[in-house]
Amino acid sequence: ALRASFAVRAQKGSQKLDYHLQPQASFKVAVLGAAGGIGQPLSLLIKMSPLVSALHLYDIANVKGVAADLSHCNTPSQVLDFTGEYELGNSLKGVDVVVIPAGVPRKPGMSRDDLFNINASIVRTLVEAVANNCPDAFIHIISNPVNSTVPIAAEVLKQKGVYDPKKLFGVTTLDVVRANTFVSQKKNLKLIDTDVPVVGGHAGITILPLLSKTRPSVSFTNEEIEELTVRIQNAGTEVVEAKAGAGSATLSMAYAAARFVESSLRALDGDMDVYECAFVQSELTDLPFFASRVKLGKKGVEAVISSDLQGLTEYEEKALEALKPELKASIDKGVAFAQKQA
Ligand code: NAI
Repeated sequence: ALRASFAVRAQKGSQKLDYHLQPQASFKVAVLGAAGGIGQPLSLLIKMSPLVSALHLYDIANVKGVAADLSHCNTPSQVLDFTGEYELGNSLKGVDVVVIPAGVPRKPGMSRDDLFNINASIVRTLVEAVANNCPDAFIHIISNPVNSTVPIAAEVLKQKGVYDPKKLFGVTTLDVVRANTFVSQKKNLKLIDTDVPVVGGHAGITILPLLSKTRPSVSFTNEEIEELTVRIQNAGTEVVEAKAGAGSATLSMAYAAARFVESSLRALDGDMDVYECAFVQSELTDLPFFASRVKLGKKGVEAVISSDLQGLTEYEEKALEALKPELKASIDKGVAFAQKQA
């Protein structure tokens, strides 16, 4: 669907490219942290969506130029810029989906948890503003450590009395995108058909690709399972090291986040067949938050798909048990931070 909506229609007999001059829906999307490494390409991809009528770009600096630049693309959405805390509230008024890629990224040698001290406060401030200005919006949290920032967001929304667990998402789409890419390369599968659910959380061993549930059905040797699992878990670090101090994944992240935005907008628009993996409040395990496939609808998470966790292989069962203490600690850390600040 993303591919279809990003498709460029070439006009017959003309050199001119016509990018979706007709909007198909009129949703408003806000990107908080829009001038950043992820924020800029993500905003470009959202600008290409035919489902968006207004794109609100917020950052603490440098967002005017990004907005001026994007506003020249002849796609339907209107681009507005908002700079600094004073304009934060206005950037959120009437918004249907808020995407949050604000915060510092990793440098070589850092874990996602090393970002906690800075990003926890940023996410708290931004989600407070969401609660005050667009409490019904879908909230997509990209800022790391997602395993803690999503519980922080939940606590902030609870404190404000507007928490709807069906509308708060930690964005783990990049883990799925990576798993699909690596598995299709390894097994010579058609990329477009390959779908690997990734469950758990979004850091190190908490990222658990369920290779046994790969569609189309395919068999792996034990060595392949080990190699692919470890590569998917460390793929973020692969990029951090290659960028050698210049940040973490931004382009693939923007692609993945745009896919999740587009899926959310399709669900809001009434499409009844939208499934994505995301880190959400969940009763699938004994942990309060867990990433799994969810069915998206107009009101957010319509169902958490439990079947993926049934009939796991021994390797997956063990990995699932092994990730729980780390994921629980990260969730607890986020909750404790938010409660301390309350
Ligand atoms: P970046 O440093 O390039 O951009 C961050 C942007 O956030 C900057 O423009 C900065 O001005 C802005 N910002 C800082 N404080 C802010 C505030 N209080 N309000 C609004 N904006 C604020 O970083 P990058 O590479 O874009 O990464 C952003 C976040 O995304 C990091 O926390 C990173 O760890 C995370 N990330 C998450 C992934 C995921 O799969 N969920 C994958 C890759 C990165």
